[in-house]
Amino acid sequence: MPHPFQIFQQAGNYHISEGGHLLLHSTDLVALAQGRERPLYVLDEVKIRDNLRRYHGALARHYPGPTHIYYASKALQNLALCVLMQQERVGLDVCSLGEMAVATKAGIPFSEMILHGNNKSAAELEQAIQSGIHRIIIDSPAEADLMEQICQKLQKKCSVLVRLNPEIQVSSHKHIVTGVKTSKFGIPLGEESLQLIRQLKSSEFISFKGIHYHIGSQIFVLKEFVEALSLMLDYLGALKNTHNILCEDLNIGGGIGVRYLPQDVPLEVEEFLQAMTQEIIQKAAAHGLPLPCLMLEPGRSIIAEAGCTLYQIGTLKDVGAGLSYAAVNGGMTDNLRPALYQASYFGVAANKMQMDAKTYPYKIVGKCCESGDVLLEKIDLPFLETGDILAVFSTGAYNASLANNYNKHPLPGMVLVGPAGYAWIQKDQPLEDLTRYDLLPPHLSVVG
Ligand code: LLP
Repeated sequence: MPHPFQIFQQAGNYHISEGGHLLLHSTDLVALAQGRERPLYVLDEVKIRDNLRRYHGALARHYPGPTHIYYASKALQNLALCVLMQQERVGLDVCSLGEMAVATKAGIPFSEMILHGNNKSAAELEQAIQSGIHRIIIDSPAEADLMEQICQKLQKKCSVLVRLNPEIQVSSHKHIVTGVKTSKFGIPLGEESLQLIRQLKSSEFISFKGIHYHIGSQIFVLKEFVEALSLMLDYLGALKNTHNILCEDLNIGGGIGVRYLPQDVPLEVEEFLQAMTQEIIQKAAAHGLPLPCLMLEPGRSIIAEAGCTLYQIGTLKDVGAGLSYAAVNGGMTDNLRPALYQASYFGVAANKMQMDAKTYPYKIVGKCCESGDVLLEKIDLPFLETGDILAVFSTGAYNASLANNYNKHPLPGMVLVGPAGYAWIQKDQPLEDLTRYDLLPPHLSVVG
């Protein structure tokens, strides 16, 4: 049986130094984390690029039609990542004025962005339409009406996809499934969607380009992806053959799961895309459709396993029953996922990487004033002491992007690590930031 760490080691660029420290490439993660007041987010640049190239490679091997990958910014977005995506020929899926602003500041043209959201504001739509965004994904008939008004006001045209809800059950946490009957996202496949598409086809300003769907996130079951895709292709077939409406684009969303725990067995991108493209090719032929432009929006599978978070162990507390608490200098402020989705993670004592060390069960908790601030429910680690460094793996997705200032903890910074060393890509949030938007009316001015 390999040590569970070796599973993460094989999948990434982690090594162990002679002194028993965890290295990423040749960067000593212990040295990076030691003496810090708060955690540190770490990203492996090589792994991110490898992940993106895996998508490109599989598409090139298996799909003869046009393709476009849009990285789901919601998983993690900052200036450096936007530029990296552009270098790797990957566009951005954005869902807010904020994500559009970050992308724009990084020099990403709107022609490389697509806009999502179940309740897009007029300001978001105006920004996107005015700037010539590549596609807006319409989530409801009401939104289509609002877009029509905005296009008319701006005298601008825009291209859209319609987000459909395949109404299928998938095996993920209830908070991250999006294609079930009761979902707030998308439009059911029946008459309502047809009516909307007909309306869009007759619009002077809106150009209907195709459909989008996204069944959820952190999914391991290939069958669920293929089943939803199959429904969509039948829908495209019916649109063309019964209603004479041809779709140029088919956007299949994101959603492939990643390894958080040693025992997790996520799908390989190659296996996923081979099956998906085969389904498209076969069904397109059966329905007499030309191959659509295949769009994908992966987030988690690009960035999650490229990330780890480094913490310093503080208070240790033995509560009996064979359980010891080890508290770290972060918690639900930098990783909300355990509290929000009961998500589990794996970690190691980064300064005690001797694989044959005797281990003890620990419950790793954060420093927030919440009993639910538990990062790792149970993990076997070598005997811990205050000052030890804990590395938690697969924290690249939906950690920094869900981070918050609860208890007024400032947000941790982020470094990007590669074979040549590391570079800061996000600063530690300074304490002054915590009052940056506070205002003191005259009757509450600070005494002294
Ligand atoms: N496209 C759309 C329309 C989406 O809503 C999402 C994720 C993606 C693509 C990217 O999915 P991915 O490849 O990352 O699975 N905060 C939750 C995840 C929420 C996912 C939201 N939508 C979590 O931490 O698990």
